[in-house]
Amino acid sequence: MRFSKDLVEDIRSRNDIVEFIGTYVNLKRAGSNFGGLCPYHSEKTPSFTVFPATQSFYCFGCGAGGDVITFAMRSENLDYAGAVEFLAKRAGITIKADDEGERGGVSRRRIFDMNLSAAKYFRACLFDERIGKEGMSYLVNDRKLPMSVIKHFGLGFAPNGFGGLTEHLKKLGFTEQELIVGFLCGKSQKTGRAYDYFRNRVIFPIINTSGDVIAFGGRVMDDSKPKYLNSSDTPGFKKSKNLFALNYAKNHCSERLILCEGYMDVIALHSAGFENAVATLGTALTQEQARLMAKHTKQVIISYDSDEAGQAATRKAVRMLSEVGLDVKIIRMEGAKDPDEYIKKFGKESFARVLDSGRTGFEFKLETTLAKYNLASPEDKIKASGEMCEYISDIFSGVEREVYIASVAKRLGLSESGLKNDVEILRKRKLKQQATKNSNDARMSAMGIGDNINRDAAKNIRAKSAEEAVIGLLLMFDEYRELVVKGTVRLKKEDFFSEFHSRVFERIIGLAESGEYDFSLLGQFFTPDEMGRLQGLEQKRRALTENGREVFTQCVKALKSEKSLAQSGDGIDEIMMLLERKRQQNK
Ligand code: GTP
Ligand code: MN
Repeated sequence: MRFSKDLVEDIRSRNDIVEFIGTYVNLKRAGSNFGGLCPYHSEKTPSFTVFPATQSFYCFGCGAGGDVITFAMRSENLDYAGAVEFLAKRAGITIKADDEGERGGVSRRRIFDMNLSAAKYFRACLFDERIGKEGMSYLVNDRKLPMSVIKHFGLGFAPNGFGGLTEHLKKLGFTEQELIVGFLCGKSQKTGRAYDYFRNRVIFPIINTSGDVIAFGGRVMDDSKPKYLNSSDTPGFKKSKNLFALNYAKNHCSERLILCEGYMDVIALHSAGFENAVATLGTALTQEQARLMAKHTKQVIISYDSDEAGQAATRKAVRMLSEVGLDVKIIRMEGAKDPDEYIKKFGKESFARVLDSGRTGFEFKLETTLAKYNLASPEDKIKASGEMCEYISDIFSGVEREVYIASVAKRLGLSESGLKNDVEILRKRKLKQQATKNSNDARMSAMGIGDNINRDAAKNIRAKSAEEAVIGLLLMFDEYRELVVKGTVRLKKEDFFSEFHSRVFERIIGLAESGEYDFSLLGQFFTPDEMGRLQGLEQKRRALTENGREVFTQCVKALKSEKSLAQSGDGIDEIMMLLERKRQQNK
């Protein structure tokens, strides 16, 4: 079963949106609404608005919007079910079993329970002298992990058979379907039967900040491939939104976090006393993970592998982490490929010194650039200087630019004024490009081109406005939804030109038909960005005075005629016509 209308109503009334958002954003009263600086894009004048009357928010700058659940999804990095749980907990509401969200017929809670049982099973196997001998020997002898660390991280061992875990969990009452959805089992193509996914591997449980076991990583004990197997995304787990060991690090990272590549690096660091280390889950750093870190700390020290791949990943991570406002430092480990190896070779005191000598993003850039060129050659020197000027020209603060220019001048033996001149030329050029881009973007978006949410928008602009009006009105008034449900106004999802609007229509009417319509419930079908768009459409409608029944039927009519016209011609002609008309007007 899905979440009920009663539940989301409860959650909304007990988590007042002004009070809730107020804990994240500094809100100031503006008439009957509240305004503040948008937490989702950088701005200097507030365009982020909270509407107490409709318990919603909308940013007129970036289009983020929705209800209290959407806000929690964005700000706490949760999926819909997670956000509902989070807000329920905050308001002291207990979610009844049949309220809980389900995907693939399996709830998050159920998967977490199953994972916990699996983690216990893996651990029992590791500590079983007969079954876990090889795994234990690998961790203790090969990887030199003390017993306390093995226990602290809840490490385990998956024996080399196809049915151990499967049988065990079935005995505990979990179904094959649940095992497969939860990614603990694969499904045999031939027999259709479930079999253990992790076999003959040491197991690293992945635990979220609420203490739930959300996934597993498993490593082979020799050189066979693949070295690691990781759970794929499940209803309770998204790789891109979690970090390994953040559940421990979160209590030790108010100042800084250490970001590494691998599970073993994190474990080595924690056991050497650096309990603020985390790692991504076998993928490149995502924006969501960067934001997650920004929630917990001020500075991130990137400690990726020293090979070429690690350094390339470092460059990307520097950019992503800086973008979310984190102070970034990079460390380089001489004589070791990763933190795990470094600590084993040189000890933890030495690693602590490396941490303190961490370079800033600028220093990292400068050194990697200088290393690339032969500075005795004038051509190379020009290239190096060009690359550094390019880098500096992107920096917002004038003071910072000056400091960096001085430092580059010194290292390259060039004059500060010459470099400064080059940087300024680049800045002017970029500002101009940005201005052109902004005005192009504005033009495109007015025409619906480059719309990432409604991708069909540009194909038929008149259909787009009619559809937006209809959706806006349906979102605003019970009365209009009733008209459609009862068939008084005949409108079907096929009448919509764009896939996005058609999908929105289907969901709104689907909920209305079962008497369960509530804006908040739409959140389970649409991404936060899409919810923002819906909030925007309603907002736009609300700002108009003409929203009577006559308007609604007119808009439905317009929408239907656009659709039938569209079926006879090519939407692209529409754009050409519009552009032509515009040109005539301008003349
Ligand atoms: P070892 O020290 O050799 O155990 O590994 P590591 O922790 O140094 O890992 P490495 O630098 O090789 O890789 C970093 C991370 O990438 C690992 O922790 C895994 O999450 C992931 N990874 C590595 N190899 C694989 C692989 O073969 N498949 C998948 N899916 N992920 C991998
Ligand atoms: Mn390693």
